[in-house]
Amino acid sequence: MTTLVLVGLQWGDEGKATIVDVFAAQADVVVRYSGGANAGHTVVIGTEKFVFHLLPVGVLHPGKICVIANGVVIDLEQLFKEIDEMGSRGLKIGDNLLVSSRCHVTMPYHKSIEKLAESLRGKQALETTLRGVGPTIVDKFARSGVMVADLFHERILLDKLRRNTSEKNLILERAGLSERFDADVIVQQLRPLTERIRPFVANTSMALADYIDRGKKVLFEGAQGTLLDIEHGTYPFVTSSHPVSGGACTGSGVPPTKIDRVVGVLKAYCTRVGAGPFPTEDLGDAGKLLRERGKEFGATTGRPRRCGWLDLVALRYAARINGITSIVVTKMDVLDVLEEIPVCIAYDYGGERLMEFPPEVDVLADCRPVYERLAGWRQSTRGVTDREQLPSNAMSYLGRIEKETGVAVALVSTGPRRDETVVLQRDLISL
Ligand code: IMP
Repeated sequence: MTTLVLVGLQWGDEGKATIVDVFAAQADVVVRYSGGANAGHTVVIGTEKFVFHLLPVGVLHPGKICVIANGVVIDLEQLFKEIDEMGSRGLKIGDNLLVSSRCHVTMPYHKSIEKLAESLRGKQALETTLRGVGPTIVDKFARSGVMVADLFHERILLDKLRRNTSEKNLILERAGLSERFDADVIVQQLRPLTERIRPFVANTSMALADYIDRGKKVLFEGAQGTLLDIEHGTYPFVTSSHPVSGGACTGSGVPPTKIDRVVGVLKAYCTRVGAGPFPTEDLGDAGKLLRERGKEFGATTGRPRRCGWLDLVALRYAARINGITSIVVTKMDVLDVLEEIPVCIAYDYGGERLMEFPPEVDVLADCRPVYERLAGWRQSTRGVTDREQLPSNAMSYLGRIEKETGVAVALVSTGPRRDETVVLQRDLISL
């Protein structure tokens, strides 16, 4: 096995970063393939906490090659902020980082346009992270975006920026806002950033093909989650990129025939940040308990996450869309205190029982969860690393996930630290 995609099976925040960190120890190359600075990946090592938005989590492991592939949208200032922060903590980022020349670049006007678009939506706001990722991708699909490669050709860059700023300025003017953007000023602001990114820029799809040919172990680090995917998520309450496993191919240039495994990461309960339907959301005390015990606050925006129960209808869908070959369950210990744990086995849609995740968001919004209550274990699993120490009701909970998806749970995390994991099937998670 040489290539493995790690993908979130819910609405992001499944605790992927810690799991990527565990897998990265076995990998030679770690690749980010989608999203941008909207992602917030937190890893705790001992008493130290690291938060990543753009850098692959693999940078925590000296000697690994880290790739920001073409599917990622780059905010240059944010990237260098992270590189500097890593440097100040003793982790030097040098020739271990490759950035695709095809990545699209977030410009200052993207953040202003996003703020305006969100305010114009009023009550229907998507509650985005306001990192400018959506508008950067809109420009990509409008075929007017600025790619990393353009930064090195000032004539082309200026032309693109003139076209883009005149369009954005028109929108801002029509919206009655006074903010304006000047292409020449942006070019000047970009010069030092361009010089800084220069040594990292590479033909990353070619580099990845070469690594794979030479039998190097490549880990694809998913960002966000399946239900936020622009194609397969709860549109329009989604992000603008492709968190699903297929996104690893389009977002990196590595073909589907070269992907060996897809590991789905699933939180033992469910959370969502931002607007959109969430059938198993618990607005009562139990939801609050999950938020407090799970420390469910966004790593990018600090927003409290909406909390609720495991949704097996959505999980079966995510398993299918991603073609997962094994599952990692995170934050098991958060459920330790519960006597009973509701899990959603079907939806009630106006009296009709739905077993499949509906493709239409309006139908999903009217679905009520049908719960089965599984017995809790009322015993601490915090920090457990040995499968013999997992209570039998916790094993039954995992068994239920396996039964619903037909896929084995290979790893369980029982705390935020990289060593707080229980390996159940090592062969399914090895690279
Ligand atoms: P955007 O990606 O900033 O455009 O936000 C679109 C939706 O995706 C919003 O509901 C965000 O809260 C959500 N979102 C974006 N990135 C993440 C993430 O890393 N974790 C969880 N939710 C996210």
